[in-house]
Amino acid sequence: MKKFIIIKNKIRNIKAKIAVSSDKSLSIRWALLAAQALGKSRAYNLLDSEDVNSALIALKKLGVKVTKNKNYCEINGKGLNSFSFNNNTIINCQNSGTLSRLICGVLAKSIKSVVLKGDQSLSKRDFSRIIKPLNLFGVKTKSKKNRLPLKITGTDFLRPIEYDELRGSAQVKSCLLFCALNTPGITKIRAVPSRDHTERLFKFLNIPIKIRREKKFDIIKIRGENQYNGFDYKIPGDISSSAFFIVLTLLSKNSKILIKNVNVNKSRTGIIDILKKMNANIRLINKKTYNGEDIADIFVKSGKSLKSINCAKEMNSRAIDEFLLIFLVCAKAKGISYFNNIGELRNKECDRLKFSSNFLKMIGIKVKETSNSLKIYGNPRLELNGNYEIKNYIKDHRVCMMSCIAALVLGGTWKIYESDSINTSFPKFFSKLKSLGAKIN
Ligand code: S3P
Repeated sequence: MKKFIIIKNKIRNIKAKIAVSSDKSLSIRWALLAAQALGKSRAYNLLDSEDVNSALIALKKLGVKVTKNKNYCEINGKGLNSFSFNNNTIINCQNSGTLSRLICGVLAKSIKSVVLKGDQSLSKRDFSRIIKPLNLFGVKTKSKKNRLPLKITGTDFLRPIEYDELRGSAQVKSCLLFCALNTPGITKIRAVPSRDHTERLFKFLNIPIKIRREKKFDIIKIRGENQYNGFDYKIPGDISSSAFFIVLTLLSKNSKILIKNVNVNKSRTGIIDILKKMNANIRLINKKTYNGEDIADIFVKSGKSLKSINCAKEMNSRAIDEFLLIFLVCAKAKGISYFNNIGELRNKECDRLKFSSNFLKMIGIKVKETSNSLKIYGNPRLELNGNYEIKNYIKDHRVCMMSCIAALVLGGTWKIYESDSINTSFPKFFSKLKSLGAKIN
């Protein structure tokens, strides 16, 4: 694919019913759980993207049989800790933070070493957040400055731990849950709430897990070494991919959209609650539950004037991947918006806090950035007609896609580099936009 795209025209009059790509978090979790199950598992609608394919390639390297055909992906699991691979096998997690963190838990009991690598973006990210608890379980790790490459060596003598996960990171929590799954006895995690797909899947598979919700923490207890059978799963649409179309519609003239069959698990729907508070017209319809997850269609209509928000910090984890888009909406909203305790955005595929404040300044919006907060002075009349270039963001897929939405709603001529970054989570992003009338070259 070309390394940049050009957008010169705004989009308007969207009237559409669409489906977006399947949920990335669930796709990766399904693959990792299926690989440790006993027997065959099938996933229908598994996300076909680079991050998920990296997970499937990783499992094949661990000796797991993975087959894909047009309708489903099948994994033939041989049970917990049944992998078969050579010592010092290299696994390239490419761009995927989720794969690289979660697989360490999956490997906790494998006594042969694995070396995890990643692309330029993943190699800049911090792994101390999982190295510390992995070591407490008894897993050995070796890295330079807690960055990839990371060598991990599991042990037959895993010991259950009690651990406080205070960042609200689902990747750290899920790494611990996968370690706990392989560890005899009861592991106890006290976690600031974050997306809970792993817990829901554990419950669905009857893995012994107990969760008690306290005011600020979830207290999670898991009894490990409990074998479960292969399972089939239908992956719903990804709210994080839907978010681009929610914001595109909200900020476009005379527009409405229905996004079908999206995972609206409460731990992921922060963007909907935030935008509704800003006066957006968004409704969830056809709500249902499927295998422990909540699914709905999302209806969005433009036209209401948007107001600023003082964003409660409890929202941060529930909207963690959507802040780039939320900031864009704030740029067009009336009043000053405040976001606090959002330092975690600096630890994503790129430093999204720094990127956002530079981006907003570039489009003429006043911002005040501190190490972990952002203040945005909105301008409902914001329209652009200059030339804009987006580059140097080390291939952050969400930066690329948010920039396309900005170009389509604000006007001006945009050259957006590293456009192949969309392949990590949403390879059909440009074709979906084109189906709504967007002109992208
Ligand atoms: C994810 C958790 C989040 C999110 C990432 C996917 C997951 O990361 O940003 O895109 O699937 O568990 P953190 O847990 O580090 O916040």
